Amino acid sequence: MANEVDEIKSRLDVVDVVSEYVRLKQAGTNWKANCPFHSEKTPSFMVSKEKQIWHCFGCGEGGDIFSFVQRMENIEFPEALRLLAQKAGVKIQYANPQIASQKNKLLDICQLTAKYWHNNLLKSDAAKIARDYLQERQVEENIIEEFQIGYAPDSWDQTSKFLIEKGYKEQEIFLAGLTVKKDRGEGFYDRFRGRLIFSILNPHGDIIAFGARTLKNEDSAKYINSPQTLIYNKSLVLYNLDKAKQEIKRLDYAILVEGYTDIVASYQTGIKNVIASSGTALTLEQIKLIKRYTNNLAIAYDADLAGEAASARGIDLAISEGLNVKIISLPEGKDPDDLIREDQTKWQEAIKNAQSIIEFHFKKTLKDLDLSKVENKKKAAKELLTVISKLNDKIEQTHWLQKLAEKLNTPEEILREVLPKKITDKVEIQESIKEQPKDRMEILSQQILAIALKYPQNLDYISDHLKPEVLMGDNYTQLYKKLLVYYTENNEITDEYLLGFNQSLKNEDNYSQLNLFINTLILLAEKEFFDFESSQIRDEAIDIITILKKDHINQQLQTLEQEISLAEDKGEKEQVDKLLEKFKELSNQKNLIETNT
Ligand code: CTP
Ligand code: MN
Repeated sequence: MANEVDEIKSRLDVVDVVSEYVRLKQAGTNWKANCPFHSEKTPSFMVSKEKQIWHCFGCGEGGDIFSFVQRMENIEFPEALRLLAQKAGVKIQYANPQIASQKNKLLDICQLTAKYWHNNLLKSDAAKIARDYLQERQVEENIIEEFQIGYAPDSWDQTSKFLIEKGYKEQEIFLAGLTVKKDRGEGFYDRFRGRLIFSILNPHGDIIAFGARTLKNEDSAKYINSPQTLIYNKSLVLYNLDKAKQEIKRLDYAILVEGYTDIVASYQTGIKNVIASSGTALTLEQIKLIKRYTNNLAIAYDADLAGEAASARGIDLAISEGLNVKIISLPEGKDPDDLIREDQTKWQEAIKNAQSIIEFHFKKTLKDLDLSKVENKKKAAKELLTVISKLNDKIEQTHWLQKLAEKLNTPEEILREVLPKKITDKVEIQESIKEQPKDRMEILSQQILAIALKYPQNLDYISDHLKPEVLMGDNYTQLYKKLLVYYTENNEITDEYLLGFNQSLKNEDNYSQLNLFINTLILLAEKEFFDFESSQIRDEAIDIITILKKDHINQQLQTLEQEISLAEDKGEKEQVDKLLEKFKELSNQKNLIETNT
């Protein structure tokens, strides 16, 4: 397994892996972003291409590609291994039972079934009905291929029989969502029968569920979908995000449509930045998912839904989460798929004419409203102020307040007074508390060690002026001690100095941890000091050491004070004198530092 991990690491770049989740910006030789694991307004999340690690200096999380996806996806190591192996094109040995975890098994079942249904659609006689249907809907062959569209046989057990033959257990097939428990007696029957199949994938391209459209008019439900399973949680998934994510990033906006067929049709016309909420309201998780790739969302729901959509269905949530939302207006009763089949340029036009959600609300609210009547004014103000209050951006908010002031012929200040207060303010305050850094002395200890490692030219000064016990935090003290030992033996600073130090640690038990620790500190130095001249770095080192020393002495003085009053209470005269002597000495040291700076 170690080999597989190394193999995967050698093939994948941490910058690429992280970029799938976080929008990184270049910062010197490294990359940075707002941390995905805690709330912050200035980026302290760093990724190093050179060292293939990531670290957040705000919340302290960090590691390699495996720990990153584990943390990000909230999954265990076996699933992370599978995910990254797939990405890297590395085959993993399933002999290890730990790797063949339950989730991985279900993923395998879904993948195999999708393939089976897809082949069935292309080849079986019984699937002619589905092939004809797709032809009638003008779905092209390459799209059928790319979306792995399939046809589930019209049978109560054909699919599960196939899977059992492949070695899967009834229970596992059931857990993958492919069968339904019989009401009476024992056993299961196939959930998807005689239907056109759309595979639902997670953002990495694993098939995790299915949506199935009926091909018969008399059938009760137009669509049936996989139930919630270990690998499928509807509220966490956006249909087609796996294929759309690159294009969403490139164009810096996503188009949200209602269903599977809209996606397929739009994709076929070459508009590929489309995702679907599959008929339900947007959830917070889905909004966060979108925000990994863009802050701009254009929504194309049915005309009859659009009004409703604009004020509900998760759109409010999207706005308050900071997404810029636009509405793509569609002719009444038509969805994007209908429009495209009519004429695909109409779809392009509709996208081009998307209006910001506020504009949309303005038009909708003010349409046919006689604003000379005071009650109409009040009504319009109430509705539109509610919408405006949800905007996160103050400038944008002001823009629309001015617009409304004009329309209603009412001063902006008055409107501002009655503007509903945002409820999210409270949450923001709480989150900013969370952002509080750790102890200042610990940060300074971290920084001085980072300087010592990244810029060893300063080791002459640092080693002369900084004793290990002055550092705050055991890890720092220990590592600094090791560095001092190395420096005593190797005091000539070369370009390979750090490499040499690293080599010297190879035999330590916890070498890999130490290595990560060192790399993290280097990354910190690059983050903090990347635009510093070497003289500025030296000055910084001097300042940090001074502060650390002073603080260290202060702490010792405090302890001494306590010891002295304790000794006084006990009447231990000699002890008191001894401690006072020490106290004086330390105070002198402190004064010395202060006069020197
Ligand atoms: N949907 C669903 N379950 C249902 C109905 C709808 O999951 N019982 C989801 C599907 O993702 C569907 C979307 O909601 O694609 C939109 O539903 P609808 O507009 O009824 O279907 P269309 O996608 O337009 O399908 P068609 O064009 O074939 O009528
Ligand atoms: Mn449709």
